[in-house]
Amino acid sequence: MKPALRFPEKFLWGAACASYQVEGGIENCDWAMAGRAGRVPPCGSACDHYNRYESDFDNAQKLGHNSHRISIEWARIEPEEGQFDRNEVVHYKNVIKALRARGLEPIVTLWHFTLPAWFANDRGFENPKSVERFGKYAEFVAKEILNEVKFVQTINEPLVWAGNGYIRGYWPPFRKNYISYLKVVRNLATAHQKAYETIKTVRGDLLVGIAKNNMFFSAKGVNPLNYLMAVVSSYWWNRYFLSKIRRESDFIGLNFYKTLVFGPKSSLPKSDMGWDIFPEGIYHVLKELGRYKKPIYVTENGVADADDSIRKNFIRDHLIQVHGAIQEGVDVRGYFYWSLLDNYEWAHGFEKRFGLIEVDFVTQERRIRASAIAYKNICETNALETES
Ligand code: FCB
Repeated sequence: MKPALRFPEKFLWGAACASYQVEGGIENCDWAMAGRAGRVPPCGSACDHYNRYESDFDNAQKLGHNSHRISIEWARIEPEEGQFDRNEVVHYKNVIKALRARGLEPIVTLWHFTLPAWFANDRGFENPKSVERFGKYAEFVAKEILNEVKFVQTINEPLVWAGNGYIRGYWPPFRKNYISYLKVVRNLATAHQKAYETIKTVRGDLLVGIAKNNMFFSAKGVNPLNYLMAVVSSYWWNRYFLSKIRRESDFIGLNFYKTLVFGPKSSLPKSDMGWDIFPEGIYHVLKELGRYKKPIYVTENGVADADDSIRKNFIRDHLIQVHGAIQEGVDVRGYFYWSLLDNYEWAHGFEKRFGLIEVDFVTQERRIRASAIAYKNICETNALETES
């Protein structure tokens, strides 16, 4: 029997969710508008987590988690510009209290992909005013909602969002325009900086970062162009944005899913999303992030696996790589599996199953998957047995 791989003390273990994907009943954001227009699948009541968060957090606690990542729905808090909804403030304060009551350290994302209708209808993040608007929202939330919170992430995956909405054109606002894309990316970086500044003026002790989707880019074969593509992609996708906001990052949140190999087609195993599974990728990405000399939390890593046949090994194999990076000096302090519940997977609707907990979207019943129990063992022992 090999010795277990131990993780650092006080390591955060949990799962991540995002408001629109689980809460249900959000009608005043860009995705709801797109759903009504038939351009993306409707989200409806999703997991009804808005009403069921307490029992969902009971499950997270039972599953050995000591932390949980949520997001706040901007459209609920600020349904019109400058108008803040006090009932929703109370709601999210209660959500955070419910996490604390169960010993779950909250990590709160301010904006996870869905924009209030008023903001989206006024050119979203293409509008230079967006920076100021986001800064004000961030300040309000920090002041009014986050009093029991230590960790906040301003933006979730800026380049994924901008790429899908402004180049590939399959997420709101359904554009295919490189100039707009570049403008939006620049405004997102400035919006993060602005939010960092406004948050710090009201809550100097809050730790502020973003959730950044980084990928492992590599190349194989004889064509030198492939190697060049890997270097350029890695610079643009992994480094550009983080380098821009380096000074305004107290920590880095890494969302890791994908490995991209330029060159002859690979034969790696695939998830239900069709994404290649290559656990070593997270090791390389973490090593690369080491350059920033900031604490790192893996704020998303997960797999769509409807029959739960590969999730257990997926988690184990990725954690072996995370552990390897830690052994080599990378300061990783937490891991959040995506996701606690099956949920609304954006343009794919409800079909892709990422949850540690299965959700029946008709009855809203929850069923804990076997992989969740395997993960529980890791969370509770703060260690990973590598032979099972
Ligand atoms: C990430 C998103 C998250 C979820 C996973 C599968 O890019 O942040 O909302 O959709 O992918």
